[in-house]
Amino acid sequence: MKEINKSKSGYAELIGTCSREEPFPVIAAPMAGITDKVFRRILREMGASFCFTEMICAKALVHQNRKTFQLMDIKGEEEFCGVQLFGADPCEMAEAARRAAAQGAKIIDVNMGCPVPKVVNNDEGAALLKNIPLAGEIVAAMVKAVDVPVTVKLRRGFDGGEEGLKLAKCVESAGAAAVTVHGRDRAQYYNGKADWNFIAKVKAALTVPVIGNGDIFEAADALSMLRETGCDGVMVARGMLGNPWLLQNIKAMLRNKSEILPSVDSRVDLALRQLRESVALYGPWLGVRFMRKFLGWYVKGFRDAAAARHRLNQLTEVAAIEDFLRELAEKNKDFL
Ligand SMILES: Cc1cc2nc3c(=O)[nH]c(=O)nc-3n(C[C@H](O)[C@H](O)[C@H](O)COP(=O)(O)O)c2cc1C
Repeated sequence: MKEINKSKSGYAELIGTCSREEPFPVIAAPMAGITDKVFRRILREMGASFCFTEMICAKALVHQNRKTFQLMDIKGEEEFCGVQLFGADPCEMAEAARRAAAQGAKIIDVNMGCPVPKVVNNDEGAALLKNIPLAGEIVAAMVKAVDVPVTVKLRRGFDGGEEGLKLAKCVESAGAAAVTVHGRDRAQYYNGKADWNFIAKVKAALTVPVIGNGDIFEAADALSMLRETGCDGVMVARGMLGNPWLLQNIKAMLRNKSEILPSVDSRVDLALRQLRESVALYGPWLGVRFMRKFLGWYVKGFRDAAAARHRLNQLTEVAAIEDFLRELAEKNKDFL
């Protein structure tokens, strides 16, 4: 097994973390409906080297859709939050990139991996794995349009193939400053195992930094990925849900320090903090509903978690959710 490549990662330089002696960026993945402003603040506090907005539709942005514009609100986070865009029209993507840069985005990422039909059927997201020349044109237009680095997040292939390798080389030639590789193909969505060998293949083929993504659920997984693929940093997605401590634990392990497992109380405290901040951002009705999935993730592994999730999905008042979670924490102190 390879040793972790200790040379300074270009990606850490890209996001300016080398000065903090952080050779391996631990990046929070863009996640639609999840990595909003509130959750990003938590992820940052938990040690994320860099975060991204959820994927933002370039077409909607260019056509001045107000809701879409709000998704790009990175005020106060400019130093550690990039904007991810999706689209298939080079002119629109270039214009959207200009708008993202004007908002202060330090990195603009292009989504070339989203598997959902609504996106793929518009030739966007993972569909670009099947239209590599267009992907190159998109990146070239964006690179020309902005001064900040443009990066690409892609999958291994569309349906069993490895078009991702050709795509990675193409976007590198078009000026992409880094590539994130999710080692699954489009047909897999999020099922099956991520192919880390493919990440290694892309790393070996490119000069720009390569970030590995897929199946980091424990701190040790991140170290294994760095070792097995030689990648320049890791990106974590589902592992952060209910467990944003994963990010700080990865960093601790990278420094040969031990992991800290959150207590029942700290899990409930963080859930309630995120709930309050979401209510402040979205208002009580939407805030509570937006948080339901997160609350379910925070109580994962608790005694009677399924019943707790069911109850949490019915409660509509912050005070009632707080009472319920505090009581749940009491019941779980001897359990976890
Ligand atoms: C609910 C959900 C939303 C996602 N939204 C995005 C997105 O907006 N942009 C993107 O590039 N990837 C998105 N992804 C993919 C993740 O960023 C990541 O590539 C994938 O989950 C694999 O990483 P993991 O095994 O650590 O979860 C999403 C994944 C999930 C589960």
